[in-house]
Amino acid sequence: MKKLKVGIIGTGGISHAHMDGYKALPELVDVVACCDIDGEKVKKYAEKFSVPHYYTDCAEMMKNEELDCVSVCTWNSAHKECTITALNGGANVICEKPMAMNAAEAEEMLEAANKNGKLLQVGFVRRFGKDAEIVQKFAKEGVTGDIYYAKAQYLRRDGCPGGWFKDKAFSGGGPLIDLGVHVIDLTRYLAGDPKPVSAFGVTFDNLGPNRASGGQMVWNVDGNDKHPYTVEDFAGALVKFENGFTLQVETSFNLNIRRDVGDVYLFGTKAGVKISGNVELYSDIAGSYVDIMPAGNTGFDFSKAFNAEIKGFIDAVNGVEPCRASGEDGVWLMKIIDAIYESARTGKSVDIK
Ligand SMILES: NC(=O)c1ccc[n+]([C@@H]2O[C@H](COP(=O)([O-])OP(=O)(O)OC[C@H]3O[C@@H](n4cnc5c(N)ncnc54)[C@H](O)[C@@H]3O)[C@@H](O)[C@H]2O)c1
Repeated sequence: MKKLKVGIIGTGGISHAHMDGYKALPELVDVVACCDIDGEKVKKYAEKFSVPHYYTDCAEMMKNEELDCVSVCTWNSAHKECTITALNGGANVICEKPMAMNAAEAEEMLEAANKNGKLLQVGFVRRFGKDAEIVQKFAKEGVTGDIYYAKAQYLRRDGCPGGWFKDKAFSGGGPLIDLGVHVIDLTRYLAGDPKPVSAFGVTFDNLGPNRASGGQMVWNVDGNDKHPYTVEDFAGALVKFENGFTLQVETSFNLNIRRDVGDVYLFGTKAGVKISGNVELYSDIAGSYVDIMPAGNTGFDFSKAFNAEIKGFIDAVNGVEPCRASGEDGVWLMKIIDAIYESARTGKSVDIK
């Protein structure tokens, strides 16, 4: 099998997880180029990881290099432009979540992939966790029965990443588009990727940065606190799917709650499952209620899941495995996010088409 040439666009925090994933596949890929609009940052990254060529303009990178695969790891507002540039330049792309700022942008990206006959995978890393793998098998093999309801909470007491994440012009929104996408996609995936039909949502911005920490961002992702806090700090929604499956989701950057929560429950006709920490299954066997825990560590492991995601991308490009998180899935997620924001704005339920 031919070794694939890889480029990485955006050399901030998450690009390190992509790089680790590629470095774990030395017989399949070489990372030959990287790009960031911050010249100092990309130079350091290239030196650290021994990447032979670095750029500050992704169009130039695509012109000079013959790349088979590109990771797009920029802030959200640059996903569309960088992804389309990479696809038009002949590469297959894995673009970080959220796929784009909104569904219209996501559709343009998918169109570019189809036009060029290239793969566009979305960085829904939760699809690659051990927990998701176990629960998906439970669902596929009939253990859960029909999954008809899910409840997902991704709540942080004081967990805005800061920097561009809190600036709507760069992020497209707050915890809903940043954290909510992970658990909305995870539950949709485990329920068999049904088509969403409507959403009713609310958003609040009561707390924002005015927290006990005195407005200091706990993480301040890019060291740049000049960005204004223009996103919601909490979002809640009810999303309905065409097969009747319904999801209740709650997500926050700031919330008056004792501790952070990351709980996902799926309820089926034969069993319910919890996916947070280790997987748990609740059922009714031979007249007894049973609580079952698969043996061993079945929780979500960030670096293992990232390595599996990058391996999945390369396997999909090589035609070894089907793509597990397609551009189509990314578009559906952006349609759900758009509908929740629209519903929060109008106070009405919004149809998704
Ligand atoms: N899958 C996950 O669990 C996960 C976790 C964290 C972040 N993310 C996603 O990854 C993306 C990046 O987040 P991050 O935390 O690494 O942010 P970051 O700020 O650390 O890095 C983003 C980088 O993109 C660069 N950039 C912006 N526009 C560019 C352009 N046009 N061309 C080249 N470079 C450009 C910036 O200079 C910056 O260095 C976001 O979409 C975020 O939602 C995903």
